[in-house]
Amino acid sequence: MIKEIRITPSILNADFSDLKNEIAKIADVSDLLHLDIMDNIFVPNFTFDFQAAEAIITQSSLPVDAHLMVANVDSIAPAYAEAGCDSVTFHVEAAADISMTIKSIKSLGSRASIAIKPETDLNSYSDFLDDIDMILIMTVEPGFGGQSFREDMLPKISQAKKLIGDRPIWLQVDGGISERTIEMASEAGADTFVAGSAVFNSDNPAAMVQTLRRLAQGK
Ligand code: DX5
Ligand code: ZN
Repeated sequence: MIKEIRITPSILNADFSDLKNEIAKIADVSDLLHLDIMDNIFVPNFTFDFQAAEAIITQSSLPVDAHLMVANVDSIAPAYAEAGCDSVTFHVEAAADISMTIKSIKSLGSRASIAIKPETDLNSYSDFLDDIDMILIMTVEPGFGGQSFREDMLPKISQAKKLIGDRPIWLQVDGGISERTIEMASEAGADTFVAGSAVFNSDNPAAMVQTLRRLAQGK
């Protein structure tokens, strides 16, 4: 059976002044659009305020996979579900009540997902696997695009895959995914791949998405 793969390009390294055109480049070949929200508190970088994010979510021809790298996320995440994101991911390190935040995202009609930073222990959060739709294992320290994939995260990806077991939960990786690294992440168990600079710094972003998908499928 061919493994079901999702490629979710991140626009973090795209041209923010011409996002419509940037998104159009990859829309036909991608599964979701990965939207990185940074607040300059949880991470030392800022991307979009809610108003700007909402405009992208409303205009995107692809379903949006929001990755919230913001502090006090309990009160912020529901607005992203309400704005129409297909999936809302928040960091466990930023949430006061993880269960409640998962529930409120889902009650507003979005898929709910938790993200785990490289230094965060996965075992402490395995109880939430019965409630989530996706888990994001960060393969770089969140905050910036263009960093190198952390191969020392491969055992954590395998661990997540094992903990997920038969549950229909997507296993996403984010950070440093490229032609060079996607196969190892896929072999470790990931099925949903964020790629920012690999896609948008490429001469042909759509062709790069297709190459990444083929490599992730082991072809
Ligand atoms: C990093 C972001 C990523 C980033 C990935 O904190 O969460 O989504 O855009 O960029 P690359 O693929 O360049 O590592
Ligand atoms: Zn991201």
